[in-house]
Amino acid sequence: MELEPTDIRAAAIAAIQAADSVDAIEEIRIKYLGRKGSLTLLLRSLGNIPAEQRAAAGKRANEFKNEIESALEQKKYELTSTAARDLLRAQWIDVTLDCATATQREDLGRLHPISQIQYEIEDIFASMGFEILDGPEVETDYYNFEALNMPRHHPARDMQDTFWTEDGNLLRTHTSAIQIRGMEKVIPPFRIVGPGRVFRYESTDASHENTFYQVEGMMVDRDINVAHLIFVMKQLLKEIFQREAVVRLRPGYFPFVEPGFELDIQCLICNGAGCSVCRQSGWVELLPCGLVHPNVLRMGGIDPKEWSGFAFGLGLNRLVMMKYGINDIRHFLSGDIRFLRQF
Ligand code: FA5
Repeated sequence: MELEPTDIRAAAIAAIQAADSVDAIEEIRIKYLGRKGSLTLLLRSLGNIPAEQRAAAGKRANEFKNEIESALEQKKYELTSTAARDLLRAQWIDVTLDCATATQREDLGRLHPISQIQYEIEDIFASMGFEILDGPEVETDYYNFEALNMPRHHPARDMQDTFWTEDGNLLRTHTSAIQIRGMEKVIPPFRIVGPGRVFRYESTDASHENTFYQVEGMMVDRDINVAHLIFVMKQLLKEIFQREAVVRLRPGYFPFVEPGFELDIQCLICNGAGCSVCRQSGWVELLPCGLVHPNVLRMGGIDPKEWSGFAFGLGLNRLVMMKYGINDIRHFLSGDIRFLRQF
């Protein structure tokens, strides 16, 4: 028995509504509208019916065909967009989520306490208008000694023995070498800081390492004096220790400054009353500094009659030791995870 067009239409629409995949839709299309599809066959058989009924039957069959075609399109669109939404939902990644558990985070690593304080100090100086400079760890004799008013055979070189390379260069003993490189690079007035690793031929003990870190600082302008130096140092210490620091200057000798000082800070543990940290003196030695020697300015191409400046060399290891109450400098390079995990 031949199917009526209305039956074909009803069956096709019901199948389309029940379809649950794009493949199923394609099967339905073939079944009804394909070359041998039931509606196609019906359309082809229209030639067999009486001429007076043909036009109306053809019109109706074509309307059904159009209706089925658009139902197929509509369902196909619905199914593909649902599939895309499901895929998106299944594979969506929230990149803002913290992927590590607390234990995994422990193992992610962190900045070494010396790097932490170095970056902190860089930020403090940058906020005071200082430029941050770098210099090589393998230095020439000229930048490390000669240009700093320490010619060959100067006795002050003995305090900073170091490791020499066969071609006459050396592992820098202090970041003061960055001063000279800085003076060659920038024109006065200027403010620079140069952090970095330094090396000395040194017997190690609780407060001495052969490899440690310093931050060099230098400010050159007209009429720079000791008051400028004290102000900048107090500002730095206030930021680092988060409280007002009381400082004092004692005479200290460095060939590249005149006058030269050792800057002491009033002990932060006992507020100057005397304790084991300050060895009952109430003061802790913090950093050497001074006004830049005219010879050094001249070596850097700066006229000492027009410009003056201050410079300082802050030892980072000892600063971190004071900040956290660390009793042995050798912890820093020990690679002991238990020590490093505390920061
Ligand atoms: C200097 O290195 C001078 N260049 C500092 C300076 C710069 C003075 C500018 C004047 C003007 P000194 O050798 O004292 O100075 O070292 C400076 C700091 O480095 C010390 O205060 C100390 O914190 C640190 N330091 C020196 N030797 C060692 C060491 N063996 N182990 C660890 N820290 C050290």
